[in-house]
Amino acid sequence: MGVLSRKPVQSPYFVPRFILILGFFSLAILLLFEVDNFVSQTKTIAGHNLKPTPWHPFPLKTFSEESKYALASKIFQCSYLTCGGSTADNLPHKNWSLSADQAGTCPEFFRWIHHDLEPWSQSRISLNHLMEAKKHAALRVVIIGGKLYVDLYYACTQSRAMFTLWGLLQLLRRYPGMVPDVDMMFECMDKPKLNKTLHYMPVPLFRYCTTPNHYDIPFPDWSFWGWPEINIGPWNEEFQSIKQGSRARSWSNKWPLAYWKGNPNVVSPIRVELLQCNHSRQWRAQILRQDWDAEAKGGFEQSKLSSQCNYRYKIYAEGYAWSVSLKYILACGSLPLIITPEYEDFFSRGLFPKENYWPIPPSNLCRSIRSAVDWGNAHLTEAEAIGSRAQEFMESLSMDRVYDYMYHLIVEYSKLLDFTPVRPSSADEVCVDSLLCFAEDKQREFLGRSTAFPSSDPPCRLQPPNKDLIKVRSKRRGKSSRTLKF
Ligand SMILES: *[C@@H]1O[C@H](CO)[C@@H](O)[C@H](O)[C@H]1NC(C)=O
Ligand SMILES: *[C@@H]1O[C@H](CO)[C@@H](O)[C@H](O)[C@H]1NC(C)=O
Ligand SMILES: *[C@@H]1O[C@H](CO)[C@@H](O)[C@H](O)[C@H]1NC(C)=O
Repeated sequence: MGVLSRKPVQSPYFVPRFILILGFFSLAILLLFEVDNFVSQTKTIAGHNLKPTPWHPFPLKTFSEESKYALASKIFQCSYLTCGGSTADNLPHKNWSLSADQAGTCPEFFRWIHHDLEPWSQSRISLNHLMEAKKHAALRVVIIGGKLYVDLYYACTQSRAMFTLWGLLQLLRRYPGMVPDVDMMFECMDKPKLNKTLHYMPVPLFRYCTTPNHYDIPFPDWSFWGWPEINIGPWNEEFQSIKQGSRARSWSNKWPLAYWKGNPNVVSPIRVELLQCNHSRQWRAQILRQDWDAEAKGGFEQSKLSSQCNYRYKIYAEGYAWSVSLKYILACGSLPLIITPEYEDFFSRGLFPKENYWPIPPSNLCRSIRSAVDWGNAHLTEAEAIGSRAQEFMESLSMDRVYDYMYHLIVEYSKLLDFTPVRPSSADEVCVDSLLCFAEDKQREFLGRSTAFPSSDPPCRLQPPNKDLIKVRSKRRGKSSRTLKF
């Protein structure tokens, strides 16, 4: 109407129009400013606006977003618009194929859950404990009513945070209504930090490994769900393909040598030392350098884990701390030659010398490797049997068992909390859709392959604490690696 109107209405409208333009202009500036603020302040599980952990710096990721506005709209959409609908049926499972007491008992190494939580069995875990752990944490995970809330403090290198949180979301899918409310601090870099002799108060911090001298609580690492940066798929897929690959040669046809392929440039003295043993005749070992950058460019053709089982002996050497390679090495069915590790992950405490691996003392490294190989070549049947037991051990560590470990660890930990978990004001809900929304294409593909489904069976039954048994087991693990003579 106004457009067609011929009536001279300019003067009364002049001022409002001016104000209108001014208004639009300031709104635009405000919007620009707000977008800027938003983009530069909202922390995300992909690592936006997070600094690397000060205790272990690493190069920050660069993001390939086209423009600030594209990024703003992505962050806004992924953070705030995706979790609404996913109220998920968090109803307890009422129709197991077995009743809870008919479920099998958990593998024995699950008993270490009690051991890891022992420091708080008397004091229990207070908010005070948690705030102490926060000083060393990269993120805080709070589960309430089957929903996952995450408070981000620091970036985790590569996609560790994303894949670790994915693992927790899959646990919630697998056991709906069963994961208790909980409040946990997580760290995602390699080395345990809470030295028992330096910390007057036990500090509960979850990470991927520990040592007998640290309070850090071991939790399954991200690689069980995949490690897209180096093309390692979810554990169930990798195990099957490695097992398949291990059958390519019969035991007597496998190369009678010890094999290691990895990255020695990770501040690991033992890996550097291992390079000296690279001599087939003198030390019976083949040590190869893995160049991940070159591998990435070559499509990972030379680094397929399943094609590395053609050797009768596979060496495990720790990296900067524990190494995720342990499970792939054990899965080969070759005789694992484990160089006495300093670190433990959640499952390595189920390994025993001469039962499912051969211990290699780090002193006199090359000579020890050669002795082990010579022993194995002279005792083919025994060596093969140890290798098979290693492979069986890894087969029994299916993703079902990994989820069971997480489940029992969280249940036992939550029983120790002396407060009711509440959602921190700065924590955002993370759901399957919001996580996938932040993932890059390759990550999304790997995540999709490790999707879990509601279990038709109850979790395995956790056996009660037994300190004496743990002592005996630790002794058996520790003793032979110190005193074995070659
Ligand atoms: C429980 O599961 C069985 C078999 O899986 C099915 O036949 C039955 O209808 C289920 N019952 C309920 C209450 O869902
Ligand atoms: C813990 O701290 C003590 C005292 O500083 C030190 O002697 C010990 O080596 C440390 N332990 C570990 C495992 O770092
Ligand atoms: C080990 O020796 C082999 C054959 O002699 C060689 O191809 C390889 O590059 C050596 N490995 C390292 C880490 O130097």
